[in-house]
Amino acid sequence: MHSFGYRANAVVTLAVTILAVMCSMASLSDNFNVPSPTAEVKVLNINWFQKQAIGNDEVSLTVNISADLSSLFTWNTKQVFVFVAAEYETPQNALN
Ligand SMILES: *[C@@H]1O[C@H](CO)[C@@H](O)[C@H](O)[C@H]1NC(C)=O
Repeated sequence: MHSFGYRANAVVTLAVTILAVMCSMASLSDNFNVPSPTAEVKVLNINWFQKQAIGNDEVSLTVNISADLSSLFTWNTKQVFVFVAAEYETPQNALN
């Protein structure tokens, strides 16, 4: 009746059930976090700007980036990828 197999089965079932409930709670509670990251990018210096032979523009900038990303981090956050994309307008092209 209460063999080792039955008891092991009951313990493993309870452990997996508790794990599933904890995973669900961790996942659902993340929906209540409203991230509000802020960032400010200032161009401090344009070191050089040149047109390449194949038509691309190449620029070297010194920028000052201040960002508060702390609201992105919850217990479900493993990594945050941050990048800066530059767009500018010229008489020939509205979007470069
Ligand atoms: C960069 O920006 C921060 C915040 O606006 C400021 O405190 C810091 O002095 C700036 N650094 C430079 C090198 O301009």
